[in-house]
Amino acid sequence: MPMIARNNGKRLLFCVILAHEARNSTLVFPAADSFMNRRRKIYEGKAKILFEGPEPGTLVQYFKDDATAGNGAKHEVIDGKGVLNNRISEFVFSKLNDLGIPTHFLRRINMREQLIKEVEIIPLEVIVRNVAAGSLAKRLGLEPGTRLPRSIIEFCYKDDALGDPMVSEEHITAFGWATPAELDDIMSLAVRINDFLTGLFMGVGIQLIDFKIECGRLYEGDMMRIVLADEISPDNCRLWDIKTRTKMDKDRFREGLGGLVENYREVAQRLGILVENDNALTTGPRLVQ
Ligand code: TMP
Repeated sequence: MPMIARNNGKRLLFCVILAHEARNSTLVFPAADSFMNRRRKIYEGKAKILFEGPEPGTLVQYFKDDATAGNGAKHEVIDGKGVLNNRISEFVFSKLNDLGIPTHFLRRINMREQLIKEVEIIPLEVIVRNVAAGSLAKRLGLEPGTRLPRSIIEFCYKDDALGDPMVSEEHITAFGWATPAELDDIMSLAVRINDFLTGLFMGVGIQLIDFKIECGRLYEGDMMRIVLADEISPDNCRLWDIKTRTKMDKDRFREGLGGLVENYREVAQRLGILVENDNALTTGPRLVQ
């Protein structure tokens, strides 16, 4: 008889108890923590948690179902989002690793977690835009959907209290958030990722409007290099269906359009991560969380 024991809402234990053992004995469940060590939480963000990894220099990145917008002003838990983002981000980061574009990604561990290299996060959101949308369209009075004269890179300083203000290369180097050489590496990484993602999504009928990445410093002995960190998923890309112009990204949540998980699943299916009609990510036997 399979039984599921729940430990203060987070950890889970699956105990398969054989019927013949159960018949004649009094079963006492040990407290989960007596044989399961609680992992050390390093950082909790709006959509992800970082835990200490199994080896020095590694971390476990956990994808939550939480969706936020407007710097946390709007918040909802959307069942299945974390699982889809974990799979989509795994797919993209694996392909980038294969192409020699350095990332923090090592491997996916389970439905919600991936093993990553520990990096020193550079406090910048690096935004690459191909088509006017979102804050750029508002700021410059552009019609959303207008192709930009060329791809544009913008930087925001990561500071929730300040609302992640847009900053220039001057601010970044003057305040020492990144050196000029690091900024060159970040920009060339951003351009290569944009080229790759544009082609990847175009191949499955999706236009990459814009996206946001974060980078980190990876220390290897005496060497340091800039690598892609965080995640790439419909949470931090704008993805429009090429034919219908349907939004297939987090704007569905920001703009209250609904159907977020359905569209993320469609992105995953088109990329070949999920086979058509595969509902395995959000239905079927469910873990107690
Ligand atoms: P924006 O048009 O709102 O400035 O967003 C540009 C891109 O960056 C868009 O793909 C969404 C993404 N983004 C994030 O991933 N996180 C953020 O906090 C913000 C503001 C934007």
